Amino acid sequence: MAHEVRGVIAPGKNEPVRVETIVVPDPGPGEALVRVRTCGVCHTDLHYKQGGINDEFPFLLGHEAAGVVESVGEGVTEVEPGDFVVLNWRAVCGQCRACLRGRPQYCFATHNAKQRMTLTDGTPLSPALGIGAFAEKTLVAAGQCTKVDPAASPAAAGLLGCGVMAGIGAAINTGQVGRGDSVAVIGCGGVGGAAIMGARLAGAARVIAVDIDERKLATAQGLGATHTVHSGQTDPVAAIRELTGGFGADVVIEAVGRPETYEQAFYARDLAGTVVLVGVPTPEMRIELPLLDVFGRGGALKSSWYGDCLPSRDFPMLIDLYQQGRLDLDAFVTETIALDQIEEAFDRMHTGEVLRSVVVL
Ligand code: APR
Ligand code: ZN
Ligand code: ZN
Repeated sequence: MAHEVRGVIAPGKNEPVRVETIVVPDPGPGEALVRVRTCGVCHTDLHYKQGGINDEFPFLLGHEAAGVVESVGEGVTEVEPGDFVVLNWRAVCGQCRACLRGRPQYCFATHNAKQRMTLTDGTPLSPALGIGAFAEKTLVAAGQCTKVDPAASPAAAGLLGCGVMAGIGAAINTGQVGRGDSVAVIGCGGVGGAAIMGARLAGAARVIAVDIDERKLATAQGLGATHTVHSGQTDPVAAIRELTGGFGADVVIEAVGRPETYEQAFYARDLAGTVVLVGVPTPEMRIELPLLDVFGRGGALKSSWYGDCLPSRDFPMLIDLYQQGRLDLDAFVTETIALDQIEEAFDRMHTGEVLRSVVVL
């Protein structure tokens, strides 16, 4: 049986997105059919629409989602119908060299669901990040579903599927922030804001928020920043050093994705400190650094992919903290919207008022 439901399609490069009827087949071996409850609007969806990721239009957008498993295919043991799940980008294999070396984020053999969803005329759809959750139902690999506490708010839970996990994970997994550390976060949007929360969770003593937007600095304080630096008005590197006894931060998290902020992050860390790069640059971007500084400052430069998360380890743990009132995921949900309001949500991304718009179905 196939299911005809509504879904949000990016039909072609830079064309406005639209709601269409899509056809979602029943799950085959290893697959799960998920009734989507919520899905956050992420920059990556906008990049798909703009053709910045690949040209495999039409896309079925949406990838930051929580929902309920409706049915599962043959051989699925991970989840069963009725489970409340958060979706993740990739079902890792557990057997390749990357998985065996404890780095499943770099798995060579992810087995996401085959691209089997279509428009009603049979045109195949490319689901964003192998998910495609701006839709009433979606088909994913069972390994992309992580069961979490069904009592958690779906809007909050879904955020762990992308940006918020990327930020929290940048601090706790990639940066390995420890008790008493000083942490600077450059760029305090959804991802940087989550990194601030992650740093607090990990026991950081100082969390310095850096942004060029006054409103983001105010939000950052609400999320747990102990100090703020307006980098349009002061040199952020000097300010971070001053706030850390002249040394620089133990961990600096870059959550913008621009050359100037990459460079600031590099110089704002303490000798032997760690720089975590979460912001995604464009292919043209370059920085130039004296090799002696690269050598002489020691420490580590790490990029953070999906917060180096292990969904089955991290999603339930973070939901547990949320349920205990120790992690305010609701703070990221600026507004809830309907499926036909995604184009407006893309527009609002640039105004700086929104951490996350979340589609509720
Ligand atoms: N210095 C400091 N902050 C800056 C600068 C700058 N030069 N330029 C922009 N910012 C701030 C913005 O004011 C905003 O608060 O960076 C923040 C970016 O936030 P969002 O646009 O909400 O983006 P977000 O979803 O947080 O993603 C940030 O991480 O995962 C990546 O692809 C993502 O590259 C993007 C980055
Ligand atoms: Zn995303
Ligand atoms: Zn693998």
